[in-house]
Amino acid sequence: MVKGFAGSGRLPIIVALDPPIGVDPVKWCFRIIDDTLDIVSGYKIGLPLILDLDRKRDLEKIVGKMKGVWLRIADLKLADIGDIMVSIIRRLHGFGFNAFIVHGFIGYNGALDRVSDYVDSIDAKLITVVSMSHSGSSEIIDHVLDRLLEVALRAGSWGIVAPATRPEIIRGIRSRVGDRVKILSPGIGVQGARPSTAIKAGADYEIIGRLVTRSEDPRKTLLEIRDLYR
Ligand code: XMP
Repeated sequence: MVKGFAGSGRLPIIVALDPPIGVDPVKWCFRIIDDTLDIVSGYKIGLPLILDLDRKRDLEKIVGKMKGVWLRIADLKLADIGDIMVSIIRRLHGFGFNAFIVHGFIGYNGALDRVSDYVDSIDAKLITVVSMSHSGSSEIIDHVLDRLLEVALRAGSWGIVAPATRPEIIRGIRSRVGDRVKILSPGIGVQGARPSTAIKAGADYEIIGRLVTRSEDPRKTLLEIRDLYR
């Protein structure tokens, strides 16, 4: 039995709510959330959805629909000076998000130190990117992975993002950090990795977008892949 699956009865999956161009984004999200709320561990929202919304109130409604789910992640991959990131996270928290993805390459002093203090003060979760799922991650980011990991740990990150497309990276990180930090892994489905690849390499959660959200029946798709996690 895969960890994270037994206790909660939920799949260790975070659904990335990135709508296709041209749909009504609120209806699109509501349909997927209504369909999957009781079986997933969380949802992740990024710029594609935020830019499609007419009103800020819609974002509040969508995040409000996720009540009861463990992770409501804002994925803006923040990479700015500390004060600005804190002001963005403060606003996002007001919409109901409880976890925030930031880049590790901005460093600790004057950046992640502030973010870390603020996220702690609101009892939310900091998630730091230390490697990415696309192949270009090996051009720069992966060369400094060890240092990014140090920064992420120093900032007291609750979680880090590492790629399902390169499970050996997940294995290496897990052997270094033990259980100190959660590993969240994108790269499943359209980007090439099979569901459960990252979990089997030591990740805690898989972030899955289009494989689920563009299917005719997102719930059915999730239930079909459930056996791979056992
Ligand atoms: P798909 O549709 O490819 O969506 O399953 C993947 C989702 O995950 C995000 N993504 C990443 N986020 N580091 C991150 O923090 C990454 O390396 C990464 N790769 C993909 C992507 O924005 C989408 O929402």
